Amino acid sequence: TRHLLGIKNISEDDVQLILQTAANFKEVINRPIKKVPSLRDITIANVFFENSTRTRLSFELAEKRLSADVVNFSSGNSSVKKGETLVDTVNNILSMKVDMVVMRHSSPGAPHFLSRNVSANIVNAGDGTHEHPTQALLDSFSIKEKLGDVAGKKVAIIGDILHSRVALSNIFCLQKLGAEVMVCGPITLLPKHIASLGVKVELDVRKALQWCDVANVLRIQLERQQIKYFPSLREYSLYYGINRKMLEELDKEIVIMHPGPINRGVELSSDVADSEHAIILEQVQNGVAVRMAVLYLLAGAKG
Ligand code: CP
Repeated sequence: TRHLLGIKNISEDDVQLILQTAANFKEVINRPIKKVPSLRDITIANVFFENSTRTRLSFELAEKRLSADVVNFSSGNSSVKKGETLVDTVNNILSMKVDMVVMRHSSPGAPHFLSRNVSANIVNAGDGTHEHPTQALLDSFSIKEKLGDVAGKKVAIIGDILHSRVALSNIFCLQKLGAEVMVCGPITLLPKHIASLGVKVELDVRKALQWCDVANVLRIQLERQQIKYFPSLREYSLYYGINRKMLEELDKEIVIMHPGPINRGVELSSDVADSEHAIILEQVQNGVAVRMAVLYLLAGAKG
């Protein structure tokens, strides 16, 4: 494949190949010399139309560890502000001999549109409420690293499922790898037809925690809410916020994940986010190796 636009349309073999390649790169970047020459002749543009900390820095580090040349574009201080279109913007960047484009955009489908209208490998770094494929890959990588495998594990995705590209990409990725998936949240933040994706649906967060091996906890995405949704942050935290006492009431250990950024005291209390149960910073660390794998494999498929 020339692009990574989402997890939905890639095969289980593709996912396994990415995870295995990422495991090899994780070994590489833990050595004193972290860099390999694999993408020495490749130039990559990170094109961000939406804010990011982890994804953007992680892609940039992955590119540098692979010895690619890197340019970074943020729409907020660019000629997009003067009315330049997405395709014109990217074609101008590509005319400077850029080979690959990593793009984050607030419109679902923007990377798919781009892939049909420009000539470059496109990697989706998050498109609106649609998909965030490299997040799902790094989440599965982190589960495999922590628990030995993804197959057979019970993963509850808890929070604002309705607005979450992380939830959708995780559902596709986890199911391809043989995990059981549950979504949990207030009914107002669950998509109407979510059960048709083959996931369990649970409204009670304590029952979800009791069921799962892994809780992937999501942020309430106020910036994507077109209308005022119930619940408010205060209500969400009261009914769905996960705190240490809730974990202590379980008769087993569970793994807590979060894609970041965390709203401390809303979906997770600080004593859970910073606890031995949480692998949140391991997820971030694994993001570099996973993105190295994606870029390396796509560059090999170039042309
Ligand atoms: N997880 C994630 O996508 O974080 P950023 O928005 O900071 O990139």
